[in-house]
Amino acid sequence: MNNYKRNLITCALPYANGPVHIGHLAGVYVPADIYVRYLRMRGRETLFVCGSDEHGVPITIKAKKEGCTPQDVVDRYHAIIKKSFEDFGIDFDIYSRTSSKVHSETASEFFRKLYDEGKFIEKESEQYYDEQAQTFLADRYIVGTCPKCGAEGAYGDQCEKCGSTLSPDELINPHSAISGGELVKRKTKHWYLPLDKYEGWLKEWILDGHKEWKTNVYGQCKSWIDGGLQPRAVSRDLEWGVPVPVEGAEGKVLYVWFDAPIGYISNTKELLPNDWEKWWKSSDTKLVHFIGKDNIVFHCIVFPSMLKAYGDGYILPENVPANEFLNLEGDKISTSRNWAVWLHEYLEDFPGMQDVLRYVLCANAPETKDNDFTWKDFQTRNNSELVAIFGNFVNRAVVLTHKYFEGKVPANCRPEAIDAETLAQIPELKRSIETNIESYKFREALKDAMSLARLGNKYLTDTEPWAVAKTDMERTSSILYTSLQICANLAVAFAPFLPFSIKKLDRILNVENLGWDDLGKDNILEVGHQLNKAELLFAKVEDAQIDAQLAKLEASKVANEAAAAAAAAQNMKPAPAKDECSFEEFEKMDIRTATVLEAERVPKTDKLLKLTIDTGLDKRVIVSGIAQYYTPEEMVGKQICILANLKPRAIKGIESKGMILMARQEDGKMRFVTPAETLTNGATIG
Ligand code: MF3
Ligand code: ZN
Repeated sequence: MNNYKRNLITCALPYANGPVHIGHLAGVYVPADIYVRYLRMRGRETLFVCGSDEHGVPITIKAKKEGCTPQDVVDRYHAIIKKSFEDFGIDFDIYSRTSSKVHSETASEFFRKLYDEGKFIEKESEQYYDEQAQTFLADRYIVGTCPKCGAEGAYGDQCEKCGSTLSPDELINPHSAISGGELVKRKTKHWYLPLDKYEGWLKEWILDGHKEWKTNVYGQCKSWIDGGLQPRAVSRDLEWGVPVPVEGAEGKVLYVWFDAPIGYISNTKELLPNDWEKWWKSSDTKLVHFIGKDNIVFHCIVFPSMLKAYGDGYILPENVPANEFLNLEGDKISTSRNWAVWLHEYLEDFPGMQDVLRYVLCANAPETKDNDFTWKDFQTRNNSELVAIFGNFVNRAVVLTHKYFEGKVPANCRPEAIDAETLAQIPELKRSIETNIESYKFREALKDAMSLARLGNKYLTDTEPWAVAKTDMERTSSILYTSLQICANLAVAFAPFLPFSIKKLDRILNVENLGWDDLGKDNILEVGHQLNKAELLFAKVEDAQIDAQLAKLEASKVANEAAAAAAAAQNMKPAPAKDECSFEEFEKMDIRTATVLEAERVPKTDKLLKLTIDTGLDKRVIVSGIAQYYTPEEMVGKQICILANLKPRAIKGIESKGMILMARQEDGKMRFVTPAETLTNGATIG
């Protein structure tokens, strides 16, 4: 590790087809930012690169749906995402985009070199084509019946009902998810990267050489490699993307997973046109990719194989600390179901409280397994950790210094053992934070930093300077001297985690540019150093704020259920056809219009209504099993259709003459049938 001269840190390029949410932040951007801030504080040369991933099918579909161009879509979301990262203090050196000119040139050149050197296989195959939409379809946009579980609406790559991985060819009755239309097979040519050829090398590099990678990452790599690698297509039939730069490739673009990781390189190039190679082609650069678990195969297997194929001195990642997923209130975060906390919305509801979210997301980061974000936990961590411990400690120390010593760091007049014992614990915490951050255990590192705040808070509670001050100003001076040194240590320890609050703390302590090496010192602040006035570092989160967030989620849930019901209704299949009947048989039915005059529940039943109706011919009673679907009040005055000559029968002791015509839906719900306009009662139907 120590022979690395510089650190190149990348974060997965988010797709520019939607804003970013807490899952993104917790899994990728907060840990990466902590890591980078830490490296910089230690004076290590570091470059932090990211940008928007602006290609891929979902963006084209979104554009189609909204009647705009893919460029419009990515312009909109690139701006929103970029701003969210800035707002949350994710400190990239560059946040660019894959629709940039530098990127398409770089990606093009990358492909072309591999092509020229014969590193690809060229293959023709038959693929599904949607004639109506005039496009080849990505697997995701082919739907049909799952061959494994029989569920409708399974995707060409996966059935979400039973979780099976599928290929479009396995689907029963495949059709287009875009147009709904039939599919035909068409021949098309693509280029493939023969991953199988890199298998031996990958085994050596990862399975033998990187046993220190996180278990979840190593495990996924192992299972991919052990499962046998296949050639992977690196081009697609699509209009949107980087055009395949060879003859006879009209209408073809680079597959988004081929061009996107090259974005790391092009964005570095854009920032440092003359100096970028130092970052990508020197063996003393440490390259680390921060990603989510769904990106592991691309960053550990595909992109490294691309770099290896390209050669020319490109370095490989030293580590890929991928995280698992963050859930929200026990449910998978989902853009389409609007089950998410969007960063831009969070900031509207909790202005200036970026650090609280950074804190909670890091404390709960899904480092080893999927984890859950709950608003209740958010509130508790804020109120009983940030406010009650960290904020409270700093505030008491600073306020008391103003009260007794005019805001100047007092002389350490009468030290006692507890002071030194307390301060002596800090170097140990420092080492632990370092070890944890450097092995990508950010939750543990944050816990260490919080232990330092607890230490300070406990010290103040134990030494009680406010009580001591009544009799012993000399001892009080030492207690506050010690407390303020702990405050300054906190300003260092928390700087990678809570950049906004530490800026505030620096202002309160009237310090600038404390370095990592200050952490552990017992004399960061000199005697006589003037503090600024106290400000609250953290504010309490009230129940009403939490309730409002929960209500917002509840509204999403209700909307989703309504949408699901509507979709289910649309997919409903009609009941099977009945046997033929003759015209004579039909003629025997006396079907007429009638109006409901009175309606009441039949006592001791929950299904039956007793309706008195005007049939034009007479007034009569019909007992009908519709009480589950209509209240008596709803029925009165309604014009309905009846079968008037059904043989009368007694139901619950009431003579019922005829039957009300009802339509039965697939879901079992019954609705009465009413004429499109009001007719005279007794009009015959047939
Ligand atoms: N856009 C991808 C995602 O959100 C990540 C791309 S990472 C890159 O899953 F390496 F390809 F850039
Ligand atoms: Zn299935």
